[in-house]
Amino acid sequence: MDRFRIQGPVRLAGRVRASGAKNAALPALAACLLASEPVELSRMPRVRDIRTMSRLLGHLGVASEELGDGTLRLTPGDPEAGAGEAPYELVKTMRAGVLSLGPLLARRGRARVSLPGGCAIGVRPVDQHLAGLAALGAEVRVEGGYVEARVPEPGKRLRGGRFRFAMPTVTGTENVLMAAVLAAGTSVLENCAREPEIGDLARLLTAMGARIEGAGTDTITVHGVAELGGARHEIIPDRIEGGTYLIGAALTGGDVTLEDAEPADLAPLLEKLAETGAAVETEGTRVRVSAPGELSSADVETAPHPRFPTDLQAQYLALMTAARGVASVSETVFENRFQHVPELARLGAVIEVRGGTAKVHGPTALSGAYVMATDLRASACLVLAALAARGETLVHRIYHLDRGYERMEEKLQSLGASVERVAGPEPD
Ligand code: EPU
Repeated sequence: MDRFRIQGPVRLAGRVRASGAKNAALPALAACLLASEPVELSRMPRVRDIRTMSRLLGHLGVASEELGDGTLRLTPGDPEAGAGEAPYELVKTMRAGVLSLGPLLARRGRARVSLPGGCAIGVRPVDQHLAGLAALGAEVRVEGGYVEARVPEPGKRLRGGRFRFAMPTVTGTENVLMAAVLAAGTSVLENCAREPEIGDLARLLTAMGARIEGAGTDTITVHGVAELGGARHEIIPDRIEGGTYLIGAALTGGDVTLEDAEPADLAPLLEKLAETGAAVETEGTRVRVSAPGELSSADVETAPHPRFPTDLQAQYLALMTAARGVASVSETVFENRFQHVPELARLGAVIEVRGGTAKVHGPTALSGAYVMATDLRASACLVLAALAARGETLVHRIYHLDRGYERMEEKLQSLGASVERVAGPEPD
């Protein structure tokens, strides 16, 4: 298992380009299960989750071919391939495998998809995905760890329906949206998640021939069509990856310009960074963050878009160790997303957690130590903290990072950091 060896402290400075968004690329790949012609997706991030999803598509009869420069061509083949089943082995390391459910059901009339299983950050049920599909006429049951869904009458399509999500769910909205685009008639989906990644999926589906209104708002209306063709589509910039580097700039007293970004999608973070005293400038597709002096603490509560994203909570917590005052950081989306706290404490952070709220006392001088990554964003938090810490930090289990950050060590090196990937077995 690889680890990062990081020497700190460093001041991150320079320019870095945002990669394509993992959480937009994953549903885009799943959408290729709906197409009857090849789809070309550009700006695909080279991260492990994308490779896993491509393998799942291959198993289901959609071949992927790298065209270079981050473009993938997905070509549909035998519609019976893989018997419409997403097996546990391909879904266990990547929850987004559940996104194959809606497209398989809509196009093939049946699907068998492994439940993704537990996850470090919370239970993460998929009841809303299933209820939404049932509202479109599917028969859905869970048996032997698999979701089995089918259109009751063989040869018929799902039918348009009305569904209200009990809470905004990102992949739930994406799954039901992808099912509705091939349903017969009109569907109205209410209390949808409004994350930018959903808008991106809707743009791809529309380019393939779908008829969708309201994506990006809480009510999405879909007029079903009988078939979807091919398309060319560029994935949006990764606001979470980009946000991670901008937080790194503020935390290390640095000066980083994020390029090829979408500043509007980063607004909840940029407002917070400005509140802490960091200088934030946006111009076109560029965002510059610098922090010449000491920062002040600013409270944060995570919530669905357009509020502060849970996927930046861990990195923000690392930032608050450098800010003067007591910052209250509340996690409202996932029930177990503070596993980075004991690891940050090993670097010298002073943080108390009560229920869903962490209180970070700052500023504290961090010092290097051995730490263990527990999930994707927790890993990013530890890497940022290590950049600010004096001495050497070894961040173990960075396979979590490789799921979602493209060439992170190279990007950090280009900003002046001393980060080295060390391969080989973990020490005891
Ligand atoms: N929920 C339910 N029932 C459902 C679906 C969701 O109770 O059927 C609950 C969840 O347990 C959670 C809340 O609703 O408490 C919101 O979860 P959501 O469904 O929105 O999360 P997700 O779709 O599983 C996506 C991202 C996550 C990101 C969340 C929240 C992808 C592939 N994953 O997950 O990304 O944290 O939305 O924004 O898009 C990451 O990239 O590190 C990551 C975890």
